[in-house]
Amino acid sequence: MNQDELFKKVISHAKEYGFVFPSSEIYDGLSAVYDYGQNGVELKKNIRDYWWKSMVQMHENIVGLDAAIFMHPKTWDASGHTSAFNDPLIDNKDSKKRYRADVLVEDYAEKLRLKAAKEIEKAAKRFGETFDAKLYAETNPRVKNYLDEAEESVQRLARSLNAEDLDDVKALIEEKGIVCPLSGSKNWTEVRQFNLMFSTQMGSTAEGASKLYLRPETAQGIFVNFLNVQKTGRMKIPFGIAQTGKAFRNEIVARQFIFRMREFEQMEMQFFVRPGEELKWYEYWKEKRLAWHKSLGIDESYYRFHDHEKLAHYANAASDIEFNFPFGFKELEGIHSRTDFDLKAHEEHSGKKLQFFDPDLGESYIPYVVETSIGLDRMFLALFSSSYREEILEDGSERIVLKLPMPLAPVKAAILPLVKKDGLPEISREILSELQLEYSVQYDEKDAIGKRYRRHDAIGTPFCITVDFQTKEDGTVTLRNRDTMQQERIKREDLASELAKHLNMSNLLKK
Ligand code: GAP
Repeated sequence: MNQDELFKKVISHAKEYGFVFPSSEIYDGLSAVYDYGQNGVELKKNIRDYWWKSMVQMHENIVGLDAAIFMHPKTWDASGHTSAFNDPLIDNKDSKKRYRADVLVEDYAEKLRLKAAKEIEKAAKRFGETFDAKLYAETNPRVKNYLDEAEESVQRLARSLNAEDLDDVKALIEEKGIVCPLSGSKNWTEVRQFNLMFSTQMGSTAEGASKLYLRPETAQGIFVNFLNVQKTGRMKIPFGIAQTGKAFRNEIVARQFIFRMREFEQMEMQFFVRPGEELKWYEYWKEKRLAWHKSLGIDESYYRFHDHEKLAHYANAASDIEFNFPFGFKELEGIHSRTDFDLKAHEEHSGKKLQFFDPDLGESYIPYVVETSIGLDRMFLALFSSSYREEILEDGSERIVLKLPMPLAPVKAAILPLVKKDGLPEISREILSELQLEYSVQYDEKDAIGKRYRRHDAIGTPFCITVDFQTKEDGTVTLRNRDTMQQERIKREDLASELAKHLNMSNLLKK
């Protein structure tokens, strides 16, 4: 199955099994807005919980916060979002389609890199074991040309955007012969900046109302509460504040399912450090966050770092953890060294001091900040798409299985009476009420047992517990493992401890 097919299947599976629905679907949906169904909401909650536990519960010096979505409008002047939270847009005059100019150039560079990779792959097959891919990439004129061209385009894009030279971005698109993906035309408009914040009004009368923005990131809620938390929590530098919550962006290139949404959820942590120590902490959090991803057991080849050439207006270093989504490697999480930009700006705009008195140094300063910021919906997509498998079984039949990390699965176990009579449903419901104190479990008696197994494989349920006639005789049940499909007979009273070995989040947190 190629990646396009995989992506289509992932989207339809997400809908068919109650994970993700288009928003207001009965009215034909709302572009780039999605709803999470009965299984999606559980998976999303589990990802959020795992993030929260590993960031807040597992760190003595990180605490949580839940700031409001609406913030004083001056917040966004201070943060630079009113003036600088823009995307460079370009329209194609023939197709009338609007694109992000930077995405057009980045996609062009990625295509060149893919071409180079294909050439290298072909050569590797031709030359066999002695093949040195690095040397080949440096010396084969065609491959070198592809890679140089990709690098040069991305570098020039970064330079032009940093210098706010939008004419040069357009010139770059024209020089490289980049065409509209829809029409194939090169008939482009000028490049313009477009602010991504949604606005609304607070107040009952049009005259008295003030313009508010829906927050485009959760981070600012943390900055404006920095002193509240530091003082009331008696926090000492270095310390962190973590928050999860909705953010809103009027994305122009809203595509790729829940990868780029207009309403989405972020999980962010701001780590406040001594000035001059930020790059040390930046490296620390890069490694720490990658380790968090790896603890989930997805193959390591799915992740890579991408250090930024073009830095956001607030950062002195930034890197993305990219994930190999069905449409290629894309940003999953950002780790940013944000300097003292935000706290300093809020000091200036509010007239309130936002400083920390460091007892060890005997002086006050505005802390520097290292931020980790991950999109919950993107993390959902990363897990969902990399867990989706179509397997041919030994007897030739097929199954679709979601091999989600077990502690994050929406339903942890299904309790299945072999038949709907002879007391088996009653025993099953007893087991259900025992287990539901700890886990989200389901009772399922409809259809043949094989069909029920498939239904639970498809939503990633790690265990199926079958209650049969032997259960009545000796108090044992069968426990079927989603991944191995092996079944073992165990005593009813051992169920909880056996499940705990696989399902508890502490298994992941220990890694
Ligand atoms: N506070 C820093 C910040 O917001 P960002 O790189 O703009 O940085 C952080 O966003 C993360 O939020 C991204 O890595 C991504 O996972 C997620 N994200 C950003 N825009 C998104 C969108 N339109 N839809 C879904 N997730 C998004």
